[in-house]
Amino acid sequence: MGKQLEFGTIIHGVGGSMDAWRHPDVDPKASTNLDFYIQRAQTAERGLFSFLFIADGLFISEKSIPHFLNRFEPITILSALALATNHIGLVGTFSTSFTEPFTLARQLASLDKISAGRAGWNLVTSPQEGAARNHSKKNLPPHSERYQIAQEHLDVVRGLWKSWENDAFTYDKESGQFFDSEKLHPLHHKGEYFQVEGPLNVSRSEQGEPVIFQAGSSETGRAFAAKNADAIFTHANSLEEAQAFYQDVKSKAAAYGHDPKIFPGIGPIIGETAEEAEEKYQQYAELVPIEHAVTFLGRFFDDYDFTKHELDEPFPELGDIGKNAFQSTTDRIKRRSRELGQTLREVAIEAATPRPIFIGTKERVADLIEEWFVNEAADGFIISSDNPHGLTDFVDKVIPILQERGLYKTEYASNLLRENLDLRIPSDQQVIYSE
Ligand SMILES: Cc1cc2nc3c(=O)[nH]c(=O)nc-3n(C[C@H](O)[C@H](O)[C@H](O)COP(=O)(O)O)c2cc1C
Repeated sequence: MGKQLEFGTIIHGVGGSMDAWRHPDVDPKASTNLDFYIQRAQTAERGLFSFLFIADGLFISEKSIPHFLNRFEPITILSALALATNHIGLVGTFSTSFTEPFTLARQLASLDKISAGRAGWNLVTSPQEGAARNHSKKNLPPHSERYQIAQEHLDVVRGLWKSWENDAFTYDKESGQFFDSEKLHPLHHKGEYFQVEGPLNVSRSEQGEPVIFQAGSSETGRAFAAKNADAIFTHANSLEEAQAFYQDVKSKAAAYGHDPKIFPGIGPIIGETAEEAEEKYQQYAELVPIEHAVTFLGRFFDDYDFTKHELDEPFPELGDIGKNAFQSTTDRIKRRSRELGQTLREVAIEAATPRPIFIGTKERVADLIEEWFVNEAADGFIISSDNPHGLTDFVDKVIPILQERGLYKTEYASNLLRENLDLRIPSDQQVIYSE
């Protein structure tokens, strides 16, 4: 059997846009509705997905999209979902700029044990200036320094996860030995940003350690992901763009002896006919007034106020605005608008209600997935959908086609996230990190 596809899904409450919550079939309370999260997780598990993913951010304002305003904290919702599922991996987003490595290592290790080896960490450095003000800090560190902090943070977390060797706990009632002290290893980390003595007060899980996901897209971010990540998220606007990312990151990772799985995020829209799929897309796009599209666009530029520019004039020159926020996204928007001569209105509509590439009949969507997979643009995909029926449609209609074609599994290979992603179980031996 050849290589097979893998899928994850993002569970995102009322959706990733300003107005998705207004769709007649969307529960406006979905972002804090536990039953909604359980139902999505179980649908993804029915589709044999390798993981579900909870995105997160640490700052809101009146301009934030509705889902961001009132939603679950990731470790808490993932712990609840661990009890409602058996096989699917549980991946949460946590920031290296605003967490203590000791606390985060402990929380993720606990989730890993609660779920019997299904935890994952989507490591982010946090792109929003306001997050600093929620954490007793004046400013967000500059983009490249955020990645230096991230490296040290991750080294500490991984070091703490090796505090206890696999067989350290002997539980010998006869002799009275609870653990073997030879197999307990404090960290004694003294670095530039963190000083952590250790050891961690949680042992290793069935999969050894949680799986590291990352979504760096800038040059610094890609280098970080290639060096550290087990799996990488990305966005791509075309097959060619996805292939270029795939090739670049895989070759950078190969230099470290790594082969991370690459997952572009896609929001498929499936109809009985191509026309019906198109109508479903239009129904969403029409929910978003242009003022909301402009506010949505501003978020990538640290809530920059685009209303001071004319809608139908060329997209404004912004200099360095956006560089310390979502850098790779803002760079792409600036470049693309110049190349295509887009107006502010066009850029805002494209950002807020992008027409998905994966749209059409179930066969068409399956064909596109196969095309990206066999042409080395993706190892799998994260399915996100603002449409309340999007995930169910995908699982019930597209998955069977991919199974028939031998491109997708018909049962889970394992109950461990690592094994379902074809990743090795890491050694329990402490490694020496550079300081
Ligand atoms: C599929 C996907 C999901 C992401 N989820 C989050 C998230 O939940 N929280 C967050 O702060 N950033 C998230 N990001 C943004 C990345 O962490 C990263 O900041 C972004 O890709 C820009 O890369 P750069 O920092 O290297 O410029 C996500 C990116 C992608 C592609």
